[in-house]
Amino acid sequence: MRTYLVTGGAGFIGSNYIHYMFKKYGDSIRIINVDKLTYAGNLENLKDIEDRDNYTFIRADICDAEAINKIFEENDIDRVVHFAAESHVDRSIKHPMVFVKTNVLGTVTMLNAAKAAWELPDGTYKPDHKFLHVSTDEVYGSLSNPEDYFYETTKYDPHSPYSASKASSDFFVKAYMDTYKFPANITNCSNNYGPYQFPEKLIPLTINNALHGKALPIYGDGKNIRDWLYVEDHAKGIDMVQEEGKLFETYNIGGHNERQNIQIVKTIIKTLQELLPDDDPRKKNVSEDLITYVTDRKGHDRRYAIAPDKIKAEVGWYPETCFEEGIKKTVKWYLEHEEWIDHCVSGDYQKYYEDMYKNR
Ligand code: NAD
Ligand code: DAU
Repeated sequence: MRTYLVTGGAGFIGSNYIHYMFKKYGDSIRIINVDKLTYAGNLENLKDIEDRDNYTFIRADICDAEAINKIFEENDIDRVVHFAAESHVDRSIKHPMVFVKTNVLGTVTMLNAAKAAWELPDGTYKPDHKFLHVSTDEVYGSLSNPEDYFYETTKYDPHSPYSASKASSDFFVKAYMDTYKFPANITNCSNNYGPYQFPEKLIPLTINNALHGKALPIYGDGKNIRDWLYVEDHAKGIDMVQEEGKLFETYNIGGHNERQNIQIVKTIIKTLQELLPDDDPRKKNVSEDLITYVTDRKGHDRRYAIAPDKIKAEVGWYPETCFEEGIKKTVKWYLEHEEWIDHCVSGDYQKYYEDMYKNR
């Protein structure tokens, strides 16, 4: 039975990936989820699979070399899928150091542990053992010409502390591949949306605020463009790259689905108006009147857009969920899981929200 070590599996994309993998492979794989459970990690995301015999959760910090080495010593790991990271750009602008620690040192700790466990005396590696590093399109910087796209060959040009830390982690993975022939792939994906996304990010924050009749903050002029991908399509892409991609290669993942932030927020308002029952008292509060333009994010990248040509040609991946369907499924999921959001926004979240949005 193949064993996967998933880091950051209690977060947004990691938990969706674990669900996807069990749906696809059932009992024929084993997953070990290693997560520190920071504010973004939430075991509620995995409630329905936590009792499976082929699933194990281990609470550990990816920077803790001793703990990570022990996991490799005690388990015959065939695949690493490395999601764990600090992921929110706004937080990185206020507190960059934790991004350096987790995203850079944590990634190198993971690389060292996998290399030590997989390397054979002759410098080759145990057959069919692979590491996949999950990264972001933000490492490529910002596009100004509307006809440009991010390709795997686009020069790295990160602007935020978050994207600089992810770029640095990508370079370490590349360095291990080049120097040690370490068996890895890198994926650089565009903005994900879907169930279990922490409500600090634009889409769940907008849904949550709209349901509470609170202002919907739009940074700057609202015309920054992101390229949105339904999270399950990302999970599928990661699995396909690991199984069918060429080792040592980078693959961009995205769906040619560019939208301005203001369009996203207006679509959410419209979708909530459609989905909320007429007798729900919140329905009357959900309107475009809640939209509030606030001071722009520092160093705010204008446009991201992925060219997914390589993953399509070499791996056969394409995004299955169109935005209209994906956003409806997402809003519906949040309406059906209000307790999940309530748990996220209790405690520290209120303080975070005050710090980030007060006087903005
Ligand atoms: P997230 O913030 O929702 O989840 C991150 C997870 O990592 C959490 O469960 C957290 O507890 C865990 N974690 C953080 N620090 C850790 C540490 N030191 N040790 C162990 N676990 C730790 O993030 P996400 O949105 O699910 O993103 C997952 C990965 O995908 C990240 O590497 C991110 O850079 C990348 N990515 C995200 C997007 C997106 O749109 N969200 C797009 C492209 C790439
Ligand atoms: O592109 C991939 C990246 O997408 C990932 O690597 C990151 O981990 C992920 O967080 C995401 O980064 P963004 O900064 O693009 O996502 P966020 O949801 O924070 O913001 C999306 C856009 O919406 C961005 O242009 C900023 C804007 N925004 C965001 C928030 C939270 C607002 O206008 N108002 C808000 O309140």
